[in-house]
Amino acid sequence: MKTKRNSFTGSLGFVLAAAGSAVGLGNIWRFPYLAARDGGGMFLFVYLILALTFGFSLLISEVAIGRKTKQSPLTAYGKIHKKWKGLGIIASIIPMMILPYYSVIGGWVVKYFFAYLSGNGSKTTHDGYFGGFISDNYLPIITMVIFLAITMLVVLGGVDKGIEKFSKFIMPALIVLILIIAVFSISLSHTDKAGEVRTGLKGLKILVIPDVKNMTVQSFLNTLMDAMGQLFYSLSVAMGIMITYGSYMKDDTDLSKSIGQIEIFDTAIAFLAGVMIIPAVYVFMGKEGMEASGPGLMFVSLPKVFASMGKLGNVIGCIFFAMVLFAAITSSVSILEAIVSCLMDKFKLERKKSTFIAGVIALIFGVIVCLGYNKLYFEIKLPNGAKAQILDIMDYISNNLLMPVVAISTCVLIGWVVKTDIIIDEVTKNNEKFGRKKIYIVMVKFISPILLGFLLIRALGVM
Ligand code: PHE
Repeated sequence: MKTKRNSFTGSLGFVLAAAGSAVGLGNIWRFPYLAARDGGGMFLFVYLILALTFGFSLLISEVAIGRKTKQSPLTAYGKIHKKWKGLGIIASIIPMMILPYYSVIGGWVVKYFFAYLSGNGSKTTHDGYFGGFISDNYLPIITMVIFLAITMLVVLGGVDKGIEKFSKFIMPALIVLILIIAVFSISLSHTDKAGEVRTGLKGLKILVIPDVKNMTVQSFLNTLMDAMGQLFYSLSVAMGIMITYGSYMKDDTDLSKSIGQIEIFDTAIAFLAGVMIIPAVYVFMGKEGMEASGPGLMFVSLPKVFASMGKLGNVIGCIFFAMVLFAAITSSVSILEAIVSCLMDKFKLERKKSTFIAGVIALIFGVIVCLGYNKLYFEIKLPNGAKAQILDIMDYISNNLLMPVVAISTCVLIGWVVKTDIIIDEVTKNNEKFGRKKIYIVMVKFISPILLGFLLIRALGVM
């Protein structure tokens, strides 16, 4: 039975859905921390340049591959070049690895959101609360199931009636919530026990003013690598998602313009997350407080910041976790959709069946990830020096190893094997302008693969 491929109704639907995928936990818990640590404005500047060149090239390549082939990643690469089918397999394994642990973290957000919603936000600041929760026998599994079920419901609705509709509602809401907290955060001020007055504005300065005084060649290279790693993860490239979303794009949509809009969206939200988090953490916890990122920032430090705000803290915490939940769901929806589209294309399954199969697999692995903090607890050291449990190992393999491999291979395939014209022709097929064409060619052929190579080497702990 040949059913018509779903598609987004227009450019806005595509842009918001893709931006929904791009804007996720990475924007909120890693970008602000990296920016504050890596020289404030200097990091922002490097990030922006990379977004406009490196990020743009990877993103436009993937979306164009999707729209040209009208296939999911599993089969799209093979359609571009027969001998490159294998790349499609690796690219489709990545979302399968990410979905389980992303859902587990999504479940943690669900838990915190409900804690704040019921007025018990301050309880989350008790010593050992977070550790106790994630190592509980049942709770993390239950919250993961809730998160996964919401994700599945959206995907079941299909591309236009599920994902697009959901993104059109959630993304504007997300911007409003983040703006409310950002303005509130800048307006804060607090005098600590030693009598030091710390204001939100001072915190904002740490985020935006370039710290050129303390810059060395080594620190600049670090900033460059950090910015690139973050950008790469943030744009959701190299895991088949953007190929999938590109395959649902209408042929008359201006591809280059849409990609520009996604970049602006993702970068603006990352910056706003910085404005929201850095001043508040600085005001209530000082510079030391700014050393946490990831789960430590979101589930341990920030609740303490909310608690220091007095009564209003519970309301702000509630808005914050609602916002994070929105950001996380639109991302997990894109991950699940990438898997579902592979199953639908390759095995000619219906959407319902595919969603169910992908959901059950994610559930099984999700339970294993939860047990990684309980019965299956162990700790190993990764090649990059980080201590890791099951969740971190899956994150490391997918993000730090497989994703750079897929991105480098995509650059080689497009830049050297089938040549960049294949993408340029797709982007300009309705006579649209391809604004950064020359930059694109140089980036895909030379600069991106080299930079990505360094990223991979760094992840392997060699450098
Ligand atoms: N791009 C998302 C972020 O910045 C994360 C993400 C990872 C989304 C994997 C989809 C898939 O947080």
